[in-house]
Amino acid sequence: MRPNLIVSLSLALFACDDTQFSNGHKGGGGDGGGADGGSTLPDQAWCAVQQIIQSDCLACHGAAYPSGGLDLETDPHAALVGAPSPTYAGQTLVVAGDTDSSFLLAKVSGTQAADQGGAMPPPSGLSADRVEAIATWIAEGASDECTDPDTGTTGSYHPDGFEDPAVHGLEAKLHEQTCTDCHGADLSGGAGLSCDSCHPAGWRTDCTFCHGGVDNSTGAPPESILDETTDTAFGAHTRHVEENTHAAFECSQCHTTPTDVLSAGHLFDSTPGQAELTFGAGLSPVASWTSAALSCSNLYCHGNGQGNNGSVTVADAPLSCDSCHPDQTSGRDAWDRMSGAHEDHLREGLTCQECHNDTTTNGTSIATPALHVNGSPDIAFSGYGVSRTSAGLCTGTCHGEGHTNESWD
Ligand code: HEC
Ligand code: HEC
Ligand code: HEC
Ligand code: HEC
Ligand code: HEC
Ligand code: HEC
Ligand code: HEC
Repeated sequence: MRPNLIVSLSLALFACDDTQFSNGHKGGGGDGGGADGGSTLPDQAWCAVQQIIQSDCLACHGAAYPSGGLDLETDPHAALVGAPSPTYAGQTLVVAGDTDSSFLLAKVSGTQAADQGGAMPPPSGLSADRVEAIATWIAEGASDECTDPDTGTTGSYHPDGFEDPAVHGLEAKLHEQTCTDCHGADLSGGAGLSCDSCHPAGWRTDCTFCHGGVDNSTGAPPESILDETTDTAFGAHTRHVEENTHAAFECSQCHTTPTDVLSAGHLFDSTPGQAELTFGAGLSPVASWTSAALSCSNLYCHGNGQGNNGSVTVADAPLSCDSCHPDQTSGRDAWDRMSGAHEDHLREGLTCQECHNDTTTNGTSIATPALHVNGSPDIAFSGYGVSRTSAGLCTGTCHGEGHTNESWD
């Protein structure tokens, strides 16, 4: 996720005056947030007003192009509070504590007189919730305090350079503060600045906007949430989420699968920066994962097909056909650990494909990935007059040997 044209435009648009907003809020760190994302800003009314100015006004009221003589970029608080209208005699833009006398409110709600120009922004003024945010700020005294709910510090909220995706993106992904407190429960700005005002359309459902997108396009790492380009969390993502000797596994085999940035349990959850594993919905429902050893246990998928008896570590890669269950070369002791009459048949020289012909046609590669490690053994007799009932009984002749309702076990 690299800066692009959008950011250069945005930087020009969003350039802030640092002398006004000088508390330098924070340089990383934070307490992990945890608030529930309400979008009301009783103690942060000026935060909301600054956000509105940033997103709705600066295109025409920047320092370089102050329409109507009004510069809302250099020092927006001083330009508004107690300031006479540059154009309309007798008007004060903001009278602290007095909404009726504040000309700004008339302009943004479109209630200015006929000879007092147009509604701001043109053509019809602000939405009702934004007008309300400005009215609240004026009614509460039009202070220049913008309080960080996490640290209690005041002033401009974000430090210099925060618009850089590598900075604010990381803080969002690691949930170092609760963005939804001020940018709206749905990040669309609430009364203020929407994350959508800079991001490309569709970012909320673009799974490679924040992670993944390197070896596969599903959103699974490599490219971790820390922007590392090797998959240090779980080295085998691509092996799992792409078709191999198995169908491509969905994220839901191992994780909850979010559909959107705001999905429950996704990034704005109570365990910041940590990918929740929930094997319950997958083929290996009781699996457990040890991140320190990068190993899995209690796995069906890496087991011998007879239960949750597999385990694997990243060091076991690459796997061969006999890593999880015996293969054609394993020998009698190993075949004996397979179910029922495997050992009898394999000892007689039968091959896997004679009974599992849809899955493998040679015993060394998988012909139909969707049938392999799909939760059930698939039986397909290759060219013999044998059939198997749903109760598992075999009838027919194979290699000259007659079967009549023979049980596998
Ligand atoms: C598309 C350009 C544009 C945008 C966006 C815009 N303005 Fe304006 N604004 C103007 C122009 C042009 C004037 C001068 C004409 C007038 O007063 O209506 C003006 C005038 C004003 C005035 C009157 C200044 C005076 O002389 O008293 C205020 C107050 C104002 N704007 C506030 C805002 C606010 C607040 C926003 C954002 C919520 C905003 N404007 C967004 C173009 C814009
Ligand atoms: C001033 C403009 C701007 C605003 C406002 C903005 N962003 Fe961004 N953000 C960007 C740009 C530009 C990118 C890079 C986009 C790209 O690569 O296509 C980005 C990228 C990101 C990334 C991905 C970073 C990465 O390295 O993977 C995250 C996460 C993010 N923003 C979170 C947010 C959230 C949450 C909000 C609202 C609270 C927000 N941003 C508001 C400009 C902005
Ligand atoms: C306490 C309120 C508050 C919180 C919490 C908050 N923001 Fe902001 N944000 C603002 C305000 C106010 C602005 C408007 C400009 C300013 O004052 O810095 C803003 C502006 C921005 C911008 C535009 C660039 C800039 O520096 O102005 C980005 C990007 C952004 N916020 C991202 C985020 C992200 C991502 C999070 C969560 C990690 C977040 N914000 C949390 C209040 C907040
Ligand atoms: C704005 C950034 C962002 C976007 C966009 C995003 N993710 Fe995530 N994703 C994260 C972060 C951060 C985590 C780490 C989880 C945490 O903090 O709890 C994560 C974790 C995950 C996990 C691990 C399970 C979990 O929730 O902890 C999966 C699976 C996942 N994302 C899938 C997706 C999919 C699918 C999409 C597209 C629909 C997507 N992500 C879009 C940031 C994002
Ligand atoms: C076979 C199981 C499995 C599948 C399938 C899987 N993951 Fe993961 N994923 C993991 C494990 C294990 C971790 C490491 C968790 C930890 O460190 O505790 C992880 C971690 C992650 C992380 C966090 C990476 C970081 O930077 O910390 C993201 C994001 C993620 N997965 C996304 C996805 C997405 C998106 C999909 C589906 C396209 C997916 N995963 C499919 C097992 C899986
Ligand atoms: C004579 C027929 C036959 C041959 C040959 C055969 N299988 Fe099977 N296999 C079966 C049957 C029948 C089942 C289903 C057992 C059940 O329904 O419980 C099965 C089940 C399995 C299972 C699920 C776990 C288990 O032990 O039941 C695996 C794994 C498996 N076979 C692998 C192989 C491999 C690998 C080969 C070649 C080395 C092979 N089979 C050769 C008939 C055969
Ligand atoms: C990661 C573990 C794993 C590896 C590696 C593996 N298998 Fe399997 N295999 C299984 C499991 C688990 C089953 C149980 C049935 C199921 O879920 O499809 C199975 C079943 C089978 C079956 C029985 C038919 C069927 O579709 O269920 C055959 C044949 C088979 N495997 C052949 C192979 C061959 C050939 C290879 C090497 C290319 C191989 N397996 C590698 C785990 C594995």
